[in-house]
Amino acid sequence: MRLSPSSLLPLTVWLSVALLAVAPASAAAPDDTDPLEHSRTRLQCKCQPTQPCWPSDSAWSALKEAVGGRLIATKPVAYVCHPEHYDKAKCDVVKKDYYYGVWRQNQPGALQMTNWETHRGEGCLLNQTTACLQGAVPLYTVNVSTVADVQASVRFAAKHNLRLSIKNTGHDYLGRSTAPASLSLWTYFKKKIQVVDSFVPDGALKGTEGTNAIVFEAGAQWIDAYKEVAKHNRIVVGGMAATVGTSGGYCLSGGHSPFSPRHGLCVDNVLQYKVVTADGELRVANAYQHQDLFWALRGGGPGFGVVVEAVYRTHVAPKHLNFAVVVIASNITAQMDKVVQDYYSRVPKWVKDEGWSGYVNIAANYIGAMLFLPDASLDTARASLQPFVDHARSLGSDIEILNNTIIQVPSLYEIFKASTPVTSVQDSGANVVLGSRLIPRTMFKTPEGTKKLTLTMRKVLEDFQDNDKNYLVLMVADGQVAKGNARETSVVPAWRDAQVFINFGAGWPDDTPYAQQVALQRKVTKATDRLRQMTPGSGTYQNEADPDEPNFQQSFFGANYPRLYKLKHKYDPHGLFICRRCVGSDDWNTDGSCPRRR
Ligand SMILES: *[C@@H]1O[C@H](CO)[C@@H](O)[C@H](O)[C@H]1NC(C)=O
Ligand SMILES: *[C@@H]1O[C@H](CO)[C@@H](O)[C@H](O)[C@H]1NC(C)=O
Ligand SMILES: *[C@@H]1O[C@H](CO)[C@@H](O)[C@H](O)[C@H]1NC(C)=O
Ligand SMILES: *[C@@H]1O[C@H](CO)[C@@H](O)[C@H](O)[C@H]1NC(C)=O
Repeated sequence: MRLSPSSLLPLTVWLSVALLAVAPASAAAPDDTDPLEHSRTRLQCKCQPTQPCWPSDSAWSALKEAVGGRLIATKPVAYVCHPEHYDKAKCDVVKKDYYYGVWRQNQPGALQMTNWETHRGEGCLLNQTTACLQGAVPLYTVNVSTVADVQASVRFAAKHNLRLSIKNTGHDYLGRSTAPASLSLWTYFKKKIQVVDSFVPDGALKGTEGTNAIVFEAGAQWIDAYKEVAKHNRIVVGGMAATVGTSGGYCLSGGHSPFSPRHGLCVDNVLQYKVVTADGELRVANAYQHQDLFWALRGGGPGFGVVVEAVYRTHVAPKHLNFAVVVIASNITAQMDKVVQDYYSRVPKWVKDEGWSGYVNIAANYIGAMLFLPDASLDTARASLQPFVDHARSLGSDIEILNNTIIQVPSLYEIFKASTPVTSVQDSGANVVLGSRLIPRTMFKTPEGTKKLTLTMRKVLEDFQDNDKNYLVLMVADGQVAKGNARETSVVPAWRDAQVFINFGAGWPDDTPYAQQVALQRKVTKATDRLRQMTPGSGTYQNEADPDEPNFQQSFFGANYPRLYKLKHKYDPHGLFICRRCVGSDDWNTDGSCPRRR
């Protein structure tokens, strides 16, 4: 029940997601019929290894040569631990490192959430007792070293009609960083980070004023970015999961941050992307060129191109951060609900008027908050939170205040430094799915609203009572997120109306029969329905969402979907960058292997 930054950080690995980028190509506009319909009719099933269309050995050799030898025949990591392919020395390494995220990100055949390495119940997980099979692990991986490697691979996949997947660190709750029988572009080793004082987008008019910015290659990770900006006394809007990538799916899908209420979502801070589109061209998208693509890349999620470089605005660092930990427990449900409802009722004031942000973990019998307040004095920070603690204490002796601590730290990076190093955290290698929802500000305006929210979330906890469930309330909306220019970005507009983002997860051991996995996934979808019904017309953050999200076009993209769909067909007319519940995935079957028959 105790909440320390170190115990919370693995939790916050839930909070953001790295990964992929998706891409665009240009289509010759058909002139007779509806251009979109025409474009759809050209989609073809992806080539499978058993088919004559599959590239010959000599074609694969040619690709290998084109990418400087960095083509890897990829196997699931636990392959060497199963009887068919057993290798004791190699398997010992796998067993030792299997649950470490930093080891997984460094393996071409591994993802952070192992369920996505499997496909319809087949795969090769460590504890699995059924036969070791390839599952959804790519057949080949290009260990990307240059932009030319990306271009050669994209052209090769397009020419041979292969499924292409894109992976950096492999953090993705929807499994979008892999695909069955795919060629994978692995961007992890492209790690350059550069803080610049005066960034001017390519193609800007002469005399355009420069902006403080940070330039990332595709494989850069947040922990390294925070270290770098701290040296320059700047901050960048990034996630709380230190090992997530800066330039892939995290920001393409929106990107929330403890700095979001102050500076907006990640997408509100993007200045430029360099992407390889489905035609193999390297394009620069910013406010001056490929503006439509630039819009799609700021919130439209993966599916428009392979990002090879991203540039984000930086901001002046706060003088310090107040870092608060408050943990309150009660074994009496009605008492706990009073504390939780009181918490909800305070969120608008805390965030909008006072500047707090943070992450709150709520379970059946406790609430644990980890909150940040930039610049304010310690006295101000204390005075702001104390009424919440006092109210809880006033409810009776069956409420326990387990922690109520505020400290000041120089920067977010100091919190990471003080926490257990990411290299020694076993935060990965599990089977996990999430459900989530953006909860609008209107719900927080009346006691009826906060009560309904409290009781609905109580029901969600009860849905999973066998699993000692908790859920997270992310105070990463409102403030500047609400003010962000909705027309400049394609992120789901529900972010602009949201007070908080709520998510919860469920997991299972490797040897769970497939039918039970499916049943658990359905249970998550059903529990999430409680939130959907409570907030009609809202949406969710696609990076931390139910992988079976119903009506995902509305939930993940809202009113932006029709335009995003058109741009998908403009830049990726053959569906090279298909991924689960991405824009245009409704043209395809669930696997993304064949167009859906209409
Ligand atoms: C309270 O939280 C602080 C900050 O994380 C931590 O250092 C301290 O050990 C916690 N105290 C208790 C009693 O858990
Ligand atoms: C990928 O390439 C990097 C160098 O860019 C190298 O250090 C690494 O070992 C390679 N990984 C694999 C699995 O080939
Ligand atoms: C809840 O029950 C547990 C186990 O009986 C006990 O250790 C704990 O102190 C109780 N907590 C509160 C807040 O009463
Ligand atoms: C694998 O088995 C070990 C030993 O029984 C267990 O501790 C671990 O949690 C299991 N992991 C998964 C993901 O099933």
